Amino acid sequence: MTNLQPKSKESQNILGIETSCDETAAAVVNTEGLILSSIVSSQLELHQRYGGVVPELASREHMRGIVPVVREAMDKAGLAYQDLAAVAVTAGPGLMGALLVGVTYAKGLAFSTGLPLIAVNHLAGHVHAVLLDTAEQHREIEFPALAFIVSGGHTHLFYAPDASTFKLLGKTRDDAVGEAYDKVSVTLGFGYPGGPTLDALSSHGSAKPGVFSVPSMKGNALDFSFSGFKTAALRWAAVNPVADEIAARREILTGGTPPTVEDWLRVTPMATRNLIASFQQTAIDHLEANVLRALTHTDARSLIVSGGVASNRGLRARFQRASFPVPSYFPKPVLSTDNAAMIAAAAIPKLAARDFAPLSFTPDPSLRLDTEKPDSEKRASGAA
Ligand code: KG4
Ligand code: ZN
Repeated sequence: MTNLQPKSKESQNILGIETSCDETAAAVVNTEGLILSSIVSSQLELHQRYGGVVPELASREHMRGIVPVVREAMDKAGLAYQDLAAVAVTAGPGLMGALLVGVTYAKGLAFSTGLPLIAVNHLAGHVHAVLLDTAEQHREIEFPALAFIVSGGHTHLFYAPDASTFKLLGKTRDDAVGEAYDKVSVTLGFGYPGGPTLDALSSHGSAKPGVFSVPSMKGNALDFSFSGFKTAALRWAAVNPVADEIAARREILTGGTPPTVEDWLRVTPMATRNLIASFQQTAIDHLEANVLRALTHTDARSLIVSGGVASNRGLRARFQRASFPVPSYFPKPVLSTDNAAMIAAAAIPKLAARDFAPLSFTPDPSLRLDTEKPDSEKRASGAA
């Protein structure tokens, strides 16, 4: 067994591994933030037919994929294990069985090469995806910032005094916003995942008031709630004559080839298009209202948005409009969904601080990014 010591001074290379949900991913990123390789093997097709991620199937696919995916990332980067300074792996949050595959593999690799192991929070990874992108464009994000993670599993708003410190300001009390997209989509017959489809279709209808409304939150006003959106869509589908069009869309889904927007439009009358536009507009209204509220409560000077829903066109337009009070930063679409480049990037400050994980560490499916609970009192005095 060789004991590889991280080289100092010159740029170092970190192998990142991500298996928290339904993407098996590996990437090599150097300490200057350059992505040398990034391989993502998606299990989307496998889970699509079940309308959501099936944890047992996810673990099995990660076990199948992890060795070839890591090998491909190393090959694409043109590196051998001796050229690495550390192995970084997602430690949580995520599905336990899925996380275990990546963590166990990373531990084995660290043990056999003597490389240090770095445990990375998946959510810190999402924030670093944006930093990777801005570094590439030689732009700098001003801190303190708000970090907003919007995905299928998270709707979490953090106050970040710097890129490695996060205080939770508010989070969803029930469904995540991406989950709401997926559930409304499945209800209407557009299948899973719903975000990209509903986002694309929403510009083909007009938002009308009535079906959806922004929930008013008791207690922490910066919390979110998306379960009402799903219920409202279910109720709408039950009282409107939409059974035939839903059946036609489900038929399209079984067709084999991925449907285009034109395919969907052919079987989606204006009333349903308007419903989708209303859903998208109200969901974004809810997200935006809390961000604006958080901006007035804190001294944040910018907004970082990440996670799968960060690719939503309506959300980007809203947060990047000229009158929005602070500059907002989004990752490029390829870095907005789960990938391992963001995990390696989040390990850069940990490598510098020699913040290594022992080989005995275990993943934590509900790992938190912050150290504090949401608390409006603390927020008002601590952040500004
Ligand atoms: O971050 P991600 O790849 O996985 C996790 O959930 O961690 O996010 C996937 C989620 C899904 O719920 C998907 O429907 C949603 O992001 N999504 C979108 C869009 N693209 C993906 N939601 C709204 N608009 C989109 N354009
Ligand atoms: Zn994610």
